[in-house]
Formats: sequence, C-alpha cells, structure tokens
Amino acid sequence: MNILSIESSCDEMAAAIVKDGKILKSSIVSSQIDLHKKYGGVVPELAGRHHLELVNNVVQSALDESGMVLADIDLFAGTRGPGLAAALLVGSTAAKSYAYAMGKDFVGVNHHEAHILSVLLEHENVEFPFVSLLVSGGHSMVVIVDGLGKYRVIGQTIDDAAGEAYDKVARLIGLGYPGGPLIDKLALQGNPKAFDFPRPMKDEPTKMSFSGLKTAVKYALRDSENAKIEDVCASFQAAVIDSLISKTRFAINKLNSEKLKTTAVAIGGGVAANSHLRSQVKTLSDEFSIRALIPEKSMCTDNAVMIAVAGLIHYNLRGPDGLGVGIDPGWKISDL
Ligand code: KG4
Ligand code: ZN
Repeated sequence: MNILSIESSCDEMAAAIVKDGKILKSSIVSSQIDLHKKYGGVVPELAGRHHLELVNNVVQSALDESGMVLADIDLFAGTRGPGLAAALLVGSTAAKSYAYAMGKDFVGVNHHEAHILSVLLEHENVEFPFVSLLVSGGHSMVVIVDGLGKYRVIGQTIDDAAGEAYDKVARLIGLGYPGGPLIDKLALQGNPKAFDFPRPMKDEPTKMSFSGLKTAVKYALRDSENAKIEDVCASFQAAVIDSLISKTRFAINKLNSEKLKTTAVAIGGGVAANSHLRSQVKTLSDEFSIRALIPEKSMCTDNAVMIAVAGLIHYNLRGPDGLGVGIDPGWKISDL
C-alpha cells in the first residue's frame, strides 16, 4: 500500500511517500526557517499563508522523487494536530482534497504519535511496552507506550518545552533560530561544569520545567562578563539533558515496578537530534540492558515520513477518517 502523507503542524511543509509503512519512496521537507528567523520564532499566520503557497509543489516533488503519480497512491494521510491551527489546516485539508479527488481514504494523524512511532521505520521487531521521550519545540513528555495506539503520559513540562528553552537561550546569547543545533555545536567545545545551572523539578519525577533554567542562564550572562559562550552552552545543555534523562529513568523504573518489563527506550522530536541526548540515552539503555531506539536525525525533526508510518498504523487500528473530520490543535495522545 502506497501512503502519501503531508505534515504542516508548524514551520515545516513536508510530504512523503512510504510503501507499507516501511519502504521509504520519497521525502520532501520545505523549511520556513528563513521566513521566521527575524521574529525569533514561528509566526502562525505567516506559516499558514506560506504553507498554502507551497503545499501542491511539495506534494508534486514527493511524487516526482518516487517516480509515482497520484493514481499510484492508495491512502492519504495528513497531520490533524496538535500544532498551529493556521498551519494544520493547510496540510490536512490538502490531504483530504487529494483523497476526495482520487476516491481514496484519508487518515488524520496525531503529530506526537507520529514522532513516537517514527522509530518503527528504522528498527525491526520493536516490542512493547517501551518508554519514549518526546522532546520538541512545542512539547516535552515521557510516555509509556503499552502497545500501538496505547499511550500513558508519565511526565511533562509545566512551562517551556525543551526545544523552546534551547531557542530562547540561543536568543539570549545572540545566536540564530532554531537555537538547538547551534547550542549543540558550541557545547561540544565547552566545559559542562563551568556553570552550575539548576536541575529544575529534581524531586518531582513526573514534572519537567525549563523556564527557570533559562532565567539562570540570563543571570549568568549578566554576572560573568568574560563567560565563554561555549561553556554557557555546554553547562545549559548538561542541565537540560540531565533533567530529561532522570525523568526517563523514572518512567523505566515505574514500568519495571509494574512487572511489565521495559523493552526499550526511544526518543523522538527535534531535540532528539541533540548529540548529548543521543549519547546519554544510549548510556541509559546500557544501564537497564534494554534497546535504544534512536531515529536518524532527519527523522527527529518534523517530517512527513513519520506521518505515513503512523497513518498506516492508525488506518489498520481505527480505519479511515471521514472527510468531514477537522483539525485538532490541542489533540493529546492520551485522548487517542
Ligand atoms: O520536532 P520539531 O522539528 O518541531 C516541533 O514539533 O516543535 O522540533 C524543533 C525543535 C526546535 O526547538 C529546535 O531548536 C530543536 O527542536 N532542536 C534541537 C536540535 N535540533 C533541533 N535541540 C537541541 N539540539 C539539537 N541538535
Ligand atoms: Zn514535531
């Protein structure tokens, strides 16, 4: 079955074609980073308007790259939520329109479920339950995946998302947008112990918080005139990743204490492209002698391949969605 998927929940307009949820035929990601850079973050209306200009070309590029035509597509998938309403509307309406025009089914996909299930494309024989750390610009959460479509959110941020903290700290330092990859690179040349930044919510295993950490960086920059930016980046990064790893460890222990042995630890979302997080998750998996499901970096940031993978699973579990189904900007995976 050939699935054509469209992702447009934030500032990326992406389309992909995946056969049987496993064989990647094409993937196109058109980023609007340059458009939003000067505002230091994504402007929803601008994103929506630009997506509208791009959507048909991006879909055509995905078809061209795969050597297919629309008539070869058996199922159309589009992101229904969560995300920015103006942006979601464009991709999901386009996917529904293609489905209607071609007389094929449509499935509306949850963006977070797609990030979590993206590990299924690259890893064979994934078993349940596993623990997934989902960290992006919009969300940070630890989820127990009991099975396909069965999610328990064990911990989440009470304020900023991890990626949002990266972006805000990058702005404080005067780096560009998005801040995550820039801080990640600079951190490699810095000393993670140079600044003793707080590990927020240390005694609250189900809560994360990153806004206080951002303030701590702000004061460190104000109070230490000669601070090396590389050291600030490395120390900030150490604090964020320490916090994420400790919440993930808690979820693994919780699952193990339920006598449901954790089979693996997975990561997903843009921050999962972070080099320090990737190596710390590997270490965590060694600590528990479980698998580490770490997607390729291009699968961590927003893409449509993960929408196709989750779309087929959704289709097999719940069947198609009617074309009358709308977007859901606040859609929670616990409501699936
Ligand atoms: O999943 P994603 O592409 O979009 C959302 O759904 O939010 O995540 C984007 C976020 C941005 O905040 C970006 O700064 C962060 O992921 N990010 C990173 C890295 N690459 C992207 N954060 C830390 N280290 C990275 N290497
Ligand atoms: Zn995302």
